[in-house]
Amino acid sequence: MYNLAVTSMDLADFATAADLLAEVTAASPEDARAHFALADALIALNDLDAAALSLRRYLRLAPGDEQGAELLLAFIGKGAVPASASPAFLRDLYRRKAKNWDLVPGYFAHRHVLDAVLRHASPPFLSALDVGCGTGLSGAGVRAMTQHMAGVDVSPDMLEGARAKGIYDVLHEDDLLSFLTRHPDRFDLIVSTAALIHFGDLNAVLEAVWLALRREGTFAFTTYSYDGSDPTAFGASSYRELAKAGCFAHGSAYLADLSKTCGFEICEVSEIIHEQSSTQKIPGFVAVLRKRTATPCTLEPGTTLRRHTSQPNEGSAFPKPLRRAVPEKLQSGHLVCSTGVACWSF
Ligand SMILES: C[S@@+](CC[C@H](N)C(=O)[O-])C[C@H]1O[C@@H](n2cnc3c(N)ncnc32)[C@H](O)[C@@H]1O
Repeated sequence: MYNLAVTSMDLADFATAADLLAEVTAASPEDARAHFALADALIALNDLDAAALSLRRYLRLAPGDEQGAELLLAFIGKGAVPASASPAFLRDLYRRKAKNWDLVPGYFAHRHVLDAVLRHASPPFLSALDVGCGTGLSGAGVRAMTQHMAGVDVSPDMLEGARAKGIYDVLHEDDLLSFLTRHPDRFDLIVSTAALIHFGDLNAVLEAVWLALRREGTFAFTTYSYDGSDPTAFGASSYRELAKAGCFAHGSAYLADLSKTCGFEICEVSEIIHEQSSTQKIPGFVAVLRKRTATPCTLEPGTTLRRHTSQPNEGSAFPKPLRRAVPEKLQSGHLVCSTGVACWSF
């Protein structure tokens, strides 16, 4: 009966699918997959209260949320926006997508990133990183711009495609946040095409990119646009299929404000068509940021650099990554070199 319901979903007969899945869940209340599928059918029928009930039942049975129920709850306005799509969800999603990823028609995001890099930075770079590199669509263009190119992705199947192209010097299977924070002051250029679409609040990502970039380093990335809802905010993508695929969207003002707070100069935040199908165009942004002037640190970690002479405790004068690194010293009005990597000059 479950398979019949899936076929009905494929044929867009959501009412039949919902009836069948209601029977499946009544007969097998522990069947997490059926609760999720029922929620999917109910969302298509716009029965959002019942869908929320099914999603919560699914989450009780499958707290690892491998299907992305939390984001769907946010999509229908019945739950908080989660931090990001879970690694387990992403690995499963891109295991299914990897084989045909390079053949997806109407996907332009990587071209926007490459063009945007060339508008604001001057290759050659010494060391570039492709964050969420997937099968290497962006890497193919970045390769000509850099001496050394690394890629990081959480999906082994997407990485397989990147490896087959033979364009990266090194590929890492890792979560991008933990990879970036473990590689401070390493890259002149970081690109990330359509990977931050799987994050809600980008604060931690931008802090980590800031740390991983060298002085004056460039960061170019894309997101989906949330401007239709609120340019100062972010949330689940308003497209059902994208929300089901673990995708968020971000407002242009949100991107700009957060980038400045995190210690970047904004070179560009521009509207783009991120991708398009035969029936719709999905709007997004391409952003290019430059790590704001920091002076190479020649001091031992722990050395007091100078007294903080503007307003007392004015933490906002500092880029956030550094504020996080030395919070107790900033409270007392001193900036201390804790990383031994780069010190903010002001
Ligand atoms: C939409 S695909 C884009 C791939 C490639 N950048 C391109 O433009 O073709 C998003 C990629 O980001 C990766 N990704 C998403 N979240 C990630 C994370 N937290 N850590 C590492 N990779 C991630 C996914 O596994 C996937 O390969």
